[in-house]
Amino acid sequence: MTLIDAGPAGALRIAPSILAADFGSLANAVEGIDAQTDWLHVDVMDGHFVPNVSIGPPVVASLRRYSDRFFDCHLMMSEPGRYLEAFAKAGADGCTVHVEVGGTAALICDARSLGLRIGLAANPDTPYDTVAPFLGDIDLLLLMTVFPGFGGQSFMGDVMSKVQTARCDVESGSLALDIEVDGGIDLVTAPVAVRAGANVLVAGSAIFSRPYPLEAAQALRAAALEGRE
Ligand code: DX5
Ligand code: ZN
Repeated sequence: MTLIDAGPAGALRIAPSILAADFGSLANAVEGIDAQTDWLHVDVMDGHFVPNVSIGPPVVASLRRYSDRFFDCHLMMSEPGRYLEAFAKAGADGCTVHVEVGGTAALICDARSLGLRIGLAANPDTPYDTVAPFLGDIDLLLLMTVFPGFGGQSFMGDVMSKVQTARCDVESGSLALDIEVDGGIDLVTAPVAVRAGANVLVAGSAIFSRPYPLEAAQALRAAALEGRE
């Protein structure tokens, strides 16, 4: 399986979340925003770690035929280790597991042995101290700006203090690590998150719930760039 290059760590990236797309027409939705997609964010919910169920490896395998973007799979699962291989085989490029489920060191090891890029996610109320020890061993830190489980929630600005701390640690340690935010990202909150130090912006509703998703993604990129000025 050939993996798609994630690109240089720290570069600004827009990662549309297909959770907000029309599942009956997913390939069209993904192809329609391709020109403004750096990574494609795939939200996987198991109905246990979060109170919602979404999609799994078969959908990743199907989408792989329609996109050669980096597939950034966000595993909101209590037992992600049981599924890493299935996601790798389906065509995932990176998998992000939640620190709250535990067993982080082993999950990092398992993902690496499958050739996956590995991310670590923390919920809004999970202290930064729980992820800090792993920063040198992961490729991506996902700081959730909503409680996971549903699209269309409001951005939690309080999380920006964690983003700032993470960006300081990345810079001071010269770490090749992406900092991603997920939840409530729109034209107003994108520059706020980028200013705090995030470089990968996940957005579902702000792209796919708009009448013109491609233009919405382009506008989001422009807004995010304002945060870099
Ligand atoms: C939330 C998911 C998010 C969600 C973002 O559980 O992890 O990726 O789709 O959706 P919006 O952008 O609508 O907040
Ligand atoms: Zn997500």
